[in-house]
Amino acid sequence: MQKFEQFLIDNLPQSKSIHPTYESALQNMLIAGGKRFRPALLLGVVKAYNPLMLGSARYAAYAIELLHTYSLIHDDLPAMDDSPLRRGKPTLHMSYDEVTAILVGDALNTYSFEVLSNAPFSDTTRVKLIKELATNGGLNGMVLGQAIDCYFENQPLQVEDIRFLHTNKTAKLIAASMKMGAIIVGKEDVAERLYDFGIKLGLLFQIQDDILDVTQSTQEAGKLTNNDGDKNSFVTILGLEESLEQANKLANELTNEMNSFDENLQSELSPLLTKYINRHK
Ligand code: IPE
Ligand code: IPE
Ligand code: MG
Ligand code: MG
Ligand code: MG
Repeated sequence: MQKFEQFLIDNLPQSKSIHPTYESALQNMLIAGGKRFRPALLLGVVKAYNPLMLGSARYAAYAIELLHTYSLIHDDLPAMDDSPLRRGKPTLHMSYDEVTAILVGDALNTYSFEVLSNAPFSDTTRVKLIKELATNGGLNGMVLGQAIDCYFENQPLQVEDIRFLHTNKTAKLIAASMKMGAIIVGKEDVAERLYDFGIKLGLLFQIQDDILDVTQSTQEAGKLTNNDGDKNSFVTILGLEESLEQANKLANELTNEMNSFDENLQSELSPLLTKYINRHK
């Protein structure tokens, strides 16, 4: 992932104009770090099947990280989760202003598709990747999840509806990361299996995030915690104990499912999942 970080630095969005802070604001949250979980998943799949393609795959991994980072910047806005801290740094609406945070989000969203459209793949692969990112990150994916998340604040939903919400706001982008890796290496049969696996993994990832909201300090998390009281989080609806149980169950299922993957895929994903699959514990 060190090479990915370097790639990201080398390809940061740039803009020279009379605007004194636009360029630094565009780059601020990208260079702040984060787990880079989605890029790692995509690159792990590519490495398992065709390590020679890792160089080009970084463009796609970066595109996902760009879209994800935009989603975080908007998620933190006063109109959404109203959070002052992200990736251990003040959020853009705090460091700059709300207009900047909205526009930087817009710019990173579209820049992610610009990066994909210039990536060194065949036209067919490029279109497939663009479609995957748009479908899962957009109106019937992450954005839909965020819309439900915000609309139903202070209105408790049924667990099945929360699963739907989590699947859209978080799991689809994680599933798309794995599937896009498979598309890059031309493994269309593996792509669908990885997508289904990624949906489950993404659901676990968001349940864990809900758990960490009540178990981690703001300093540990690098973002405001204890901030989900009004939300349909797993913990607010089911309680901490039941959420932990559900997370453990999902983690076990995923570990078992991974055993049926091709050996190379297992060895790439296994260290990654071990690191993230237990983060609620
Ligand atoms: C945070 O995502 C938002 C969720 C979907 C839970 P991450 O936990 O991957 O955030 P970063 O990228 O590490 O900052
Ligand atoms: C946000 O979920 C998921 C996104 C699509 C950005 P959260 O609101 O729970 O994410 P955090 O806890 O602020 O990172
Ligand atoms: Mg949110
Ligand atoms: Mg939030
Ligand atoms: Mg959260």
